[in-house]
Amino acid sequence: MKTIIRNGTIVTAEGSFKGDLLMEGEIITEIGESVFLDSGWVFDAEGMFVLPGGVDPHVHLHLPMAGTVSSDDYYTGGKAAAFGGTTTVIDFVSQGPGTLADSVKAHRELADATASVDYASHMNITHFNDQIGEQIADLPGLGITSIKVFTAYNDRLRLHDGDIFRAMRIAGQNDILTLVHAENGDVIDLLINEALEAGHTEPIWHALTRPGWGAVEASLRAFALAAQADAPVYLVHMNMDGEVDQLKYARSKGIYAMGETCPQYLFFTAENLQQPDGAKFVCSPPVRSKADNAALWQGLEDGSIQVLATDHCPFFFDGQQPIEYEGQMIAIPGKELGKDNFTKIPNGLPGLGDRMPLLWTHGVGTGRISLERFVALTSTNPAKIFGLYPKKGCLRPGSDADVVIWDPDQKVKYGVNIACHRTDYNLYEGWNLKGMPRTVIQRGDILIEDGLWKGKPGQGQFLHRQSGEIL
Ligand code: URP
Ligand code: ZN
Ligand code: ZN
Repeated sequence: MKTIIRNGTIVTAEGSFKGDLLMEGEIITEIGESVFLDSGWVFDAEGMFVLPGGVDPHVHLHLPMAGTVSSDDYYTGGKAAAFGGTTTVIDFVSQGPGTLADSVKAHRELADATASVDYASHMNITHFNDQIGEQIADLPGLGITSIKVFTAYNDRLRLHDGDIFRAMRIAGQNDILTLVHAENGDVIDLLINEALEAGHTEPIWHALTRPGWGAVEASLRAFALAAQADAPVYLVHMNMDGEVDQLKYARSKGIYAMGETCPQYLFFTAENLQQPDGAKFVCSPPVRSKADNAALWQGLEDGSIQVLATDHCPFFFDGQQPIEYEGQMIAIPGKELGKDNFTKIPNGLPGLGDRMPLLWTHGVGTGRISLERFVALTSTNPAKIFGLYPKKGCLRPGSDADVVIWDPDQKVKYGVNIACHRTDYNLYEGWNLKGMPRTVIQRGDILIEDGLWKGKPGQGQFLHRQSGEIL
């Protein structure tokens, strides 16, 4: 079956031109100013932009946390992704008590049956010994070419520096990228204990007990460990101006260091946690200050930051009140679990579907971000860094036909109903956005057409990744 998208402006990370894009089955077969088609479907994309499907390399679907679970699973999360123009997600395999291969198998059993967009996985390394070190070397054979380590969440997820160094060294020797969650776990624990002893229970204490200097210090520590281990490193969820400085410093010294930020760190500050609904904004690391927002925007603009991801990890604000989702009433315990104690608020925010519309309106629409950089930040760079390119992240013959027809003139009053995450709130409720996906195609199949969902569970495939590129 042949399908052609005619007369759109085709945008890649390298440039844009008006032309046609031909797909046959799951693959793009031809792109040019005027492509011949004998028979098949024709989409007229006059006035539209034609973009590669978005790649979000940081999502947590169906993640158990704080006595509940993140409220989007592989089906609902993929659907929300598609509504925002994203057709590939990378989430995280939690390390279980057995081997890493056991954890990957369990994860895939859940995800493969239900995923609605293509997905890949990072492996969390949250305990380490010689055997785990050997198993890290086997991960590429399972299609996993990145691990994530944590310098915070003591006694739960954190590895100590020596183990991070050892894990990174093995990763580097096997062309595996190490992702680092950078905060100072010891300081956080101490401040949390002091806050609780003093009777502080409100959401703002989540931010006050996770100081930004801890993120700055731990990010430099991550880069220094990577330098000593001779390994590439990627800083997740950058939230501080000082992290941008550290990333620039590491790169200036020739360290293979890269990083991402997420929309919440571009728009919100710790003041949002002081609102009556402050729990909605609780994520780790916390949202910071206006100066940090500005520095992160600047990093996206000038290329110091390579990727805009989301760290999508949604919870209900009131998990006692069911919402309707595809005709069923659903309630999943959420932020209310922490109403008497900020440490019990499940950490994380919805964002998967918000990412591209927000960057379009506030980046492309304001002239801060060029069309090409928009594609680089949301699709091409993550595809390259995480070993999915050129199957994903570009529009070229031979690539998967993951294509978004983007309407730059569509205006919406954004919010929970448009975003389609399976939760009861959206952080951008009531925001006026201009520029939305109109048609979203994955491997030649239509997922979204004129605001309607056409996808189904199990349609997404696991992506066996290669080693990535250093950008
Ligand atoms: O609050 C967040 N970010 N939850 C997800 C876990 C993580 O550290 O990325
Ligand atoms: Zn993290
Ligand atoms: Zn995360």
